[in-house]
Amino acid sequence: MLAVAILAAGKGTRMKSQLPKVLHKLGSKSLVERALNSCDLIKPDRSLVIIGYQGEKVKSALNHLSGVEFVEQTEQLGTGHAIQQLMPPLDDFEGDLLVLNGDVPLLRSQTIEELVKTHQENKNDATLLTANMPNPKGYGRVFCDSNNIVTQIVEDRDCNRAQKQNNRINAGVYCFNWQKLKTVLPKLSTNNDQKEYYLTEVFDYLHRVMALDVDDHLEISGINDRCQLAVAYDILQARIKEAWMMAGVTMIDPDSITIEESAQLGIDVIIEPQTHIRGNTIIGNGCHIGPACLVENSQLGKNVRALYSVISDSQVANDTKIGPFAHLRGGVVLGESCRVGNFVEIKKSNIGHKTNIAHLSYIGDATLGNQVNIGAGTITANYDGVNKHPTIIGDRTKTGSNSVFVAPVNIGEDVTIAAGSVITHDVPDDSLAIAREKQKVIKGWRKKN
Ligand code: UD1
Ligand code: CA
Repeated sequence: MLAVAILAAGKGTRMKSQLPKVLHKLGSKSLVERALNSCDLIKPDRSLVIIGYQGEKVKSALNHLSGVEFVEQTEQLGTGHAIQQLMPPLDDFEGDLLVLNGDVPLLRSQTIEELVKTHQENKNDATLLTANMPNPKGYGRVFCDSNNIVTQIVEDRDCNRAQKQNNRINAGVYCFNWQKLKTVLPKLSTNNDQKEYYLTEVFDYLHRVMALDVDDHLEISGINDRCQLAVAYDILQARIKEAWMMAGVTMIDPDSITIEESAQLGIDVIIEPQTHIRGNTIIGNGCHIGPACLVENSQLGKNVRALYSVISDSQVANDTKIGPFAHLRGGVVLGESCRVGNFVEIKKSNIGHKTNIAHLSYIGDATLGNQVNIGAGTITANYDGVNKHPTIIGDRTKTGSNSVFVAPVNIGEDVTIAAGSVITHDVPDDSLAIAREKQKVIKGWRKKN
């Protein structure tokens, strides 16, 4: 049996925040959720999160994850004290306990898997992740004998001068034989600089404790302040972007691009500077996105071209061109080979194939057929101040510049709408609709006046 415990009860004073540290977001997910996710590969039998400071908030932030147990640490008297709180809920548990700090969000699940494997193969009392940090300041230092057997862990602030020279640090990620740990937990003291119960003191009493070095020390970066949070964000982004570049995506100036891990990109996609891809977004082969696009929770087919545009909660079919300066605000389904852009906003609308909405328009709650041409400045007046109403425009219809459709209104196929018309009634197929004042010309008007 394997249980996981995440330490998430601390306030995180150095964040200078009203939010508990572990709820700060790294990209799309909170620190504590990332810590939990790093255990996905090992499929623990039980997952426990130790909460304290604003515990209810932490609990509700994780309520979308099933099977998580919460254990309360009412007073935060140290990491050792936090683990002592597991004694009642794990009273009859037999097996190994994996412990992670809730503020270590970049761990790879493969690393956790390797830690558990090393622990179990060597039948250790405890196994912990360590790394050689170029700048080990703030971390506990790990001292080992020649066989990687841990002899002592000393917190940074408790280190003497010679001990501070040791760059091998404690990642705060441990696998314990719970039976052994449980017998030594009551022995912890507060005999240290912070007068706290340190979890690391258990290594004074456990016998077979092994250190496992991670190759990439960036993985175990702990977040204590907002500068470290920003550094972690860069590390995460670099990982995501490297993986996509290796998978066939071209990025121009990757440092200015952000991509959430939930996004999926096809081959020969080109992403230009200042582009941000978020949420459940899928970008098909050969798309060319950017410069300066925000694409979130949207699905793009193949060879879509988008520049200087915002695309949210929408679907765009193959070969469609978006922008510059288009806003698909949500619920938009765009057909193939359309052209949308130059100050166009579309909301909750279904647009057929080869339809153009190329200049200065608002299209909302509308259904447009195929090969429709929406003239510059066409507006669907979909809102009467109380309710939203639909506009329907049939295949091959052309709307003149500055037409207004006062919804609900249904325009047939092959219709021509004269420029400047305010359309308040349905128009049948194959007709011309003009709804504007006839032009008057008065000759010699200036002289007369
Ligand atoms: C801890 C380790 C240190 C290690 C470092 C790695 C100890 C004594 N030290 O130090 O050796 O190098 O992590 O990042 O364990 N927490 C609780 N309850 C408490 C105190 C803390 O749940 O009473 C939680 C915090 O919310 C946090 C985690 O434990 O998620 C670590 O606490 P923190 O104070 O950041 O420990 P460090 O000083 O970083
Ligand atoms: Ca920490």
